[in-house]
Amino acid sequence: MDALKIDSNEWKNLENVLEGMMPSYDNINSRMTLGRDKKWRKILINESSNKDIAVEIGSGPGTLAMMLKSRKIFCVDPSDKMHKIAGERIKQAKIPLEKFEFITAPAESIPVNNDVADFVCCAFAFRDFYDKKKALTEIYRILKNNGKFMILDIAKHNNIYGTLIYNYIKYIAPVITGSDAPKMLAKTYKSFGTPKYYADIMKETGFRNIKIMPLNLRTIFILSAEKI
Ligand SMILES: C[S@@+](CC[C@H](N)C(=O)[O-])C[C@H]1O[C@@H](n2cnc3c(N)ncnc32)[C@H](O)[C@@H]1O
Repeated sequence: MDALKIDSNEWKNLENVLEGMMPSYDNINSRMTLGRDKKWRKILINESSNKDIAVEIGSGPGTLAMMLKSRKIFCVDPSDKMHKIAGERIKQAKIPLEKFEFITAPAESIPVNNDVADFVCCAFAFRDFYDKKKALTEIYRILKNNGKFMILDIAKHNNIYGTLIYNYIKYIAPVITGSDAPKMLAKTYKSFGTPKYYADIMKETGFRNIKIMPLNLRTIFILSAEKI
């Protein structure tokens, strides 16, 4: 596992852990972030409000997707289990299911035509993509000209601050959440790229107007970029 790639066994193991934590995913996420994730998600939700077609990649149980304001929302995730949970939650929330299209695929090979999306976003998922360069190339391909891309995720720091974040995830988060799931996150956190590192790869891929927005004392970031 490194900042760009996760090998296939490690990735499958990660997917199993993610699927296993699903019944309580929102609860764990909310406790771990002290309820602040809603505020950060809101930034992506607001961005979607003037975007006709949105694609969320790594949409999981639909936590963000069901809040997006776009007319049409493609939910891309390699896990059918996640899509099933998302579909049920959307129905329960009485949001018209026709707004959504569920695509079972990884970010590295998205079965969507070129230049279709006005907005692509990833919330707490980019870090789990097994080939970040390939995923960025795919995201660039499916975006329309002037389309926008946003990543919301945990920020890696290659210094003492990163060690503090790691220790919070490994030792404090399991206590706050009453779950062992953060321990897996701590393991993967070691191999995350920094926001600046991902911004540089985005630039190489062709994205422009790349901006890093640090949030929550720089423990969280939003990276935004455009296809121009
Ligand atoms: C922590 S969940 C994020 C859920 C959701 N986006 C949210 O709003 O919280 C991460 C998701 O990324 C998905 N994922 C992992 N690897 C992926 C890949 N290579 N391509 C697309 N999605 C992937 C997982 O299946 C999982 O549903």
